[in-house]
Amino acid sequence: MRKLLAVLASVAIVAVLSCGGGTGTAGGSNAIKVGLIVPLTGDVKTFGESARNGTMLALEEANAGGGVNGRRINVVATDDKNDPTETGNAGSKLIDMDKVAVIIGSVSSKCSVPLSDKCESAKIPMITPTSTNPKVTVGEDGKRKEYVFRACFIDPFQGTVGARFALDSLKAKTAAVMYDVGNDYSKGLADYFKASFEKGGGKVIAFESYAKDDVDFSALLTKVKQSSPDVLFIPDYYNKVGLIAKQARQLGITAAFLGGDGWDSPEMSKIAGDAIVGGYFTNHYSPDDPRPEVQEWVEKYQAKYGQKPDALATLGYDAGLLLIQALKNAPNAKPDEIKAALGAIKDFPCVSGKITFDEWGNPIKSAAVLEYTKDGQQYVTTINP
Ligand code: PHE
Repeated sequence: MRKLLAVLASVAIVAVLSCGGGTGTAGGSNAIKVGLIVPLTGDVKTFGESARNGTMLALEEANAGGGVNGRRINVVATDDKNDPTETGNAGSKLIDMDKVAVIIGSVSSKCSVPLSDKCESAKIPMITPTSTNPKVTVGEDGKRKEYVFRACFIDPFQGTVGARFALDSLKAKTAAVMYDVGNDYSKGLADYFKASFEKGGGKVIAFESYAKDDVDFSALLTKVKQSSPDVLFIPDYYNKVGLIAKQARQLGITAAFLGGDGWDSPEMSKIAGDAIVGGYFTNHYSPDDPRPEVQEWVEKYQAKYGQKPDALATLGYDAGLLLIQALKNAPNAKPDEIKAALGAIKDFPCVSGKITFDEWGNPIKSAAVLEYTKDGQQYVTTINP
């Protein structure tokens, strides 16, 4: 009991959001309860804000159209601060106290891995909009976590795309890699990039790790400088990458910078300044994609939130669309029905591409390569699976 109270006290309940207007109790007793877990404070808060905004927009649209099967969707949103312990507490609260039927979250892989274990054992379906590490849907035992799905591609693909871009477009022969050893996403993507780059004939001449709270990278960067690589691959989140990029240029490193989806934040240019200009990263979509569904989405999001949707907002929206589609085929909105309906989704049109889940709960989708310029991000190319 004491443990439960401690857990409850530590969970930041952001809001019970009855989306799409309307009055009365939060969605009414007949409402379908959906849990949302994202980081709204902490080191990657723009990730959580975007993912929440995108998800809420999809669910609000469903409610504005009368809900799903005549029932409103009622979101219980929590902030996990990008801390796996907080994610676990938030998951327990949503499942045991709020009795949600399904959870959308979390954002970073290191939070979604423990959350997925919890959802799997509680038999509550989970959709992570953005977590790309394979372990989110696969257990230590190598078995599929059957209740877990995602709206994004996975890092073995993303690492390959980064390596191909370095080899084919940047004509790189050598690469250095710097990664956060305590972050599933960063470490995983570093490994996948290295394997692909070497398979493609490139040489990884420095493979250096740091810890989560490091802020001075001069020792590692000195090693990188001595190895004089064509590209420096930095698979981490914007706040760390911004620091590393800045310090690297200050040290006189001239390598091209390359990274992954974790670079996608309106804060990146503020932190890195000119150091990130000319840096390339792989991502889930580009707002410059001329497909009409992308352009409609960009317009709609901008009208509501006053900025262009980044990949996190877009994947949040897509996760919301996947859930709504599944709920349509789950007349009682029971967790097992929702799980089965999610698994049955095929060729479903989302903003980031058409979604069919493979046997591991992962969509097969293309990746965009973007470049940071003086004016923000610019679309470079699309790479298909
Ligand atoms: N893919 C990252 C992870 O798994 C999260 C992320 C997705 C960050 C998209 C930025 C953009 O940790």
